[in-house]
Amino acid sequence: MDLKDLKNRAEKEISLAQNLEALNEISKKYLGKKGEITLVLRSLKDLPITERKKQGQLANQIKKQLEQAINNKDFKTKEDVKDRIDITAPGTRPLQGHLHPITLVKKEVEDIFAKLGFETIEGPEVEDEWHNFDALNIPKEHPARDMWDTFWLKEKGLLLRTHTSPVQVRYMEKNNPPLRIIVPGRCFRYEATDASHEINFYHIEGLMIDKEISASNFKAIMEKFFQEFFKKQIKLRIRPSYFPFTEPSFELDLECLVCGGKGCSVCSKRGRIEMAGAGMVHPNVLKAVNLNPNNWQGFAFGMGLDRLTMMKYKIDDIRLLYSSDLRFLRQF
Ligand code: DAH
Repeated sequence: MDLKDLKNRAEKEISLAQNLEALNEISKKYLGKKGEITLVLRSLKDLPITERKKQGQLANQIKKQLEQAINNKDFKTKEDVKDRIDITAPGTRPLQGHLHPITLVKKEVEDIFAKLGFETIEGPEVEDEWHNFDALNIPKEHPARDMWDTFWLKEKGLLLRTHTSPVQVRYMEKNNPPLRIIVPGRCFRYEATDASHEINFYHIEGLMIDKEISASNFKAIMEKFFQEFFKKQIKLRIRPSYFPFTEPSFELDLECLVCGGKGCSVCSKRGRIEMAGAGMVHPNVLKAVNLNPNNWQGFAFGMGLDRLTMMKYKIDDIRLLYSSDLRFLRQF
């Protein structure tokens, strides 16, 4: 018996086998009880002793090789490989998104104000001239309009809102006092960008109207808010300012928490940062929404949400917040 020939035949058949059934047949043909190799091994006893040893070793070696070839046989075709799912392969983690730092801060601000009784309201980003300006005591041709570098839309009388204050008007048109709302939202201004200015940014407007609301209510609410938000006592400074829709008007400054008051790019080296404009709602604004200023009064404020975020996370350039740079965003 030519063992080499047997081996070659068997190997060829194994490699050509198309399915498990065919493979079993081949296994039986060569390695089964009456298989060719088995017969060879059985007939060894008839050989002279030196032959027996040589042939025996060779036959056993071939048997092992064929067994191995059968075990290793893989039926997959190229198509199979593409479609097959290897359930034993380690999984790839799905890429999970997460909230933007501004969204995180917005949520936190909403929660704190909710505890103080303020409802969260939203308004449109494309605004009309009446709500963004006129109703807020900023008539056409009034020089105060220069305070807001505005993106006007082609359609007459429409613009990208320059602040969230128009939502005060929208809300008071539909709701009667007493009222307490905050309005987080995106605003737009046509201006040069730098470390603390962007053409789009976020404000949080606040409005509280009742019979006897004064500037001390404003101060108390703000102190409470900043203490909760920064989890420590924060030094506020309230100084006189001017806004057409408030009288008197103030500006609220915080010690810059990015540099700790030493002066940095965020506070323009001043050590303090303007956090909010505010004031007692101007009688003309109340009149514009048909409220009688003799019966109702209150305060309003507009706070920079980006600045709040920058103070919270010690971010020294507002442009990072809008850069979509994952190296930055992944830190939150
Ligand atoms: N809207 C103002 C701004 O764009 C901020 C502001 C100032 C809002 C005073 C107010 C306010 O509600 O009372 O800078």
